[in-house]
Amino acid sequence: MQNETRLNAHSERPLDILVLAAGLGTRMKSGKAKVLHQLGGLPLITHVCRAAQSLEPRKIHVIVGHQADRVEAAVLEALDPSQVTFIKQARQLGTGDAVMSAREALAGADSTVMILSGDVPLIRAETLRLLLNHHRESGAVCTILAVRMENPTGYGRMVRDEQGRFLRIVEQKDATPEEKQVREINSGIYCFEAGKLFSALERVQPQNQQSEYYLTDVAEILLSDGEQVDAFLHNDAREVAGVNTRAELAEFENLIRRNTIRGLMLDGGVTFIDPSRTYVSAEAVIGQDTVIYPEVQIEGKTVIGENCVLRSGSRITNSRLGSNVTIKDHCLIIDSEIESDCSVGPFAHLRMKAFLAAGSAVGNFVELKKSRLGRGSKAMHLTYLGDATIGEQTNIGAGTITCNYDGRQKHETIIEDNVKIGSDTMLVAPVKVGSRSVTGAGSVVTRDVPSDSLVAGVPAVIKKRLGERRNETES
Ligand code: UD1
Ligand code: CA
Repeated sequence: MQNETRLNAHSERPLDILVLAAGLGTRMKSGKAKVLHQLGGLPLITHVCRAAQSLEPRKIHVIVGHQADRVEAAVLEALDPSQVTFIKQARQLGTGDAVMSAREALAGADSTVMILSGDVPLIRAETLRLLLNHHRESGAVCTILAVRMENPTGYGRMVRDEQGRFLRIVEQKDATPEEKQVREINSGIYCFEAGKLFSALERVQPQNQQSEYYLTDVAEILLSDGEQVDAFLHNDAREVAGVNTRAELAEFENLIRRNTIRGLMLDGGVTFIDPSRTYVSAEAVIGQDTVIYPEVQIEGKTVIGENCVLRSGSRITNSRLGSNVTIKDHCLIIDSEIESDCSVGPFAHLRMKAFLAAGSAVGNFVELKKSRLGRGSKAMHLTYLGDATIGEQTNIGAGTITCNYDGRQKHETIIEDNVKIGSDTMLVAPVKVGSRSVTGAGSVVTRDVPSDSLVAGVPAVIKKRLGERRNETES
């Protein structure tokens, strides 16, 4: 009966989530706060925030300290500002102190507080939900997510008595040789009843090897108060593993990448010629029957359509590709869009919102910056197109350059439909070439070219009007 009332009281309580992210992470040997290091293209903290968010808590409180501004910015990339508050931990005196700094925010809240570490990025929402349900149903004031690990080095160990009852958590650095043998570890993820948590935290002392306030000491204190403390044993050790070193970070990266690629193969029907040598962000979307060769990197929120072929050595970042697109070897495509039926490369560079309309093509050693290539148009060899808008069915000859920069400002080039730009044409922007016009090889175009004209020379001057006979000039 008493259990029942407890159960009800628990489950009615709102959920607050606390994410600890103030530490520098000395073992990373980095000038950058640990939670900002990237995994699968996203900061560690982002992974944790996403898992937290899917529990739909009342609020997510992030404890920040080292590089607080940058950590806050990273969190706000993932969460809506209305979902999150930031709490500054002035000095990093340990995990217990970190939680203590949230006291004011949570005082009198009468909530269930779930604590997560910003450096445990693989944690799944599903696991957190199981922990929370267990906590609510058992009526414990503290529930610790624990796992067994083959190699528990570095973690806090779950110490139990001879009957197997949980007694306390002992940190690696404070553990006796015997305690170090324990393979059951504290994941650093917990549920607490707010009132009990803070009353116990007040009594935590920094009497340990690291002279830190350990959050983990709270468990023992609550037990000595006669409170119920539970360990909730989870079976996936990898999921709750913390990133403490760059070696671990690389292991996690591999793991995420393998899972992403596996999912794309099994559920998405994507072919990877060699999955172990391909890099795909967990956020990428790739269509069926697309074939990806080794040493391709797909980063960020890239979307790739169906039946594309991506050849070796190419990097595609935050870009969109339609279907039936071929990216030949060694292309760099950033923040750009390529519609269906296009071909790019080898050795092409598309950046700053470059746009290729359907059926267009870009060839060897061609760079497009902030430029649009219209339907069916081509720029096949050794060309720079910057700040340019190119119409449909236009051909840009080898060696063409839009001279878009006068040393102070960038200027636009407009090339209309059905134009033929001869090899080695310099288009000195701002400049416009009208529809159906032709520039001779080596032209330096310093003035607008009207439609239906042939220009040539340095600087290019009109030689004749093309009119009906323009087909003669086709090469
Ligand atoms: C902690 C646990 C350990 C557990 C392990 C799981 C303690 C004392 N130990 O150890 O039992 O097995 O996590 O991963 O809690 N942080 C702050 N402020 C601080 C100190 C830390 O915000 O003053 C943050 C860190 O940024 C990090 C998290 O708390 O995100 C954990 O801190 P860390 O130093 O990595 O703890 P561990 O030694 O791994
Ligand atoms: Ca850690």
